[in-house]
Amino acid sequence: MNKLVVFILVVSFFIALKGLNSYKSIEVSNEPFEYSKAENAYKNRLKTLAAIEEAKRPKVKKEQKVKKVEFKVALDTPALKRGFKLYSKCIVCHGKLGAGKKSQNAPKIGGQFDWYVSLQISNMQKGIRVNKAMEPYIKKLSSQDIADLSAYISKLPWKAL
Ligand code: HEC
Repeated sequence: MNKLVVFILVVSFFIALKGLNSYKSIEVSNEPFEYSKAENAYKNRLKTLAAIEEAKRPKVKKEQKVKKVEFKVALDTPALKRGFKLYSKCIVCHGKLGAGKKSQNAPKIGGQFDWYVSLQISNMQKGIRVNKAMEPYIKKLSSQDIADLSAYISKLPWKAL
């Protein structure tokens, strides 16, 4: 029994000795303690923890704002380019997109068939269809002008945007 106690004592002694020696492996910095550094480190740690918490939270999808895209006719032919320029005179009454304006009694023409637009304008020129309001605007239009205008108008959106 005594032998066992001695053995335990001896083993404990060596373990304690090893433990006492282990302080040598702990690195001790000789740098002076800087309060601001420690404070910053603490603040950074808090931020990191907050970020971790934030990442754990279930994500609520933000409602995506629908960007309103301005409608533009692709002016990829000379006819459309000319039509676009000629149409600037019609905007006052029919609107930029040809949606029409009630205040002007002007109907929607955007997206209308090109043949129909051409026919109406030439009929107005001939007096087959009387349109006093539009008369000054179409008087001088050539058949080419009418064709180009109609091509452009037919490309405008039929549905209101
Ligand atoms: C001063 C206002 C005014 C301007 C400018 C004007 N319009 Fe009109 N437009 C009208 C009115 C009002 C009507 C409806 C006429 C009617 O009652 O017959 C009309 C009708 C039309 C129609 C017939 C639509 C349909 O459904 O039958 C076409 C096509 C048209 N305009 C094209 C044009 C073009 C192209 C231009 C530019 C060169 C133009 N308008 C400029 C007022 C205008």
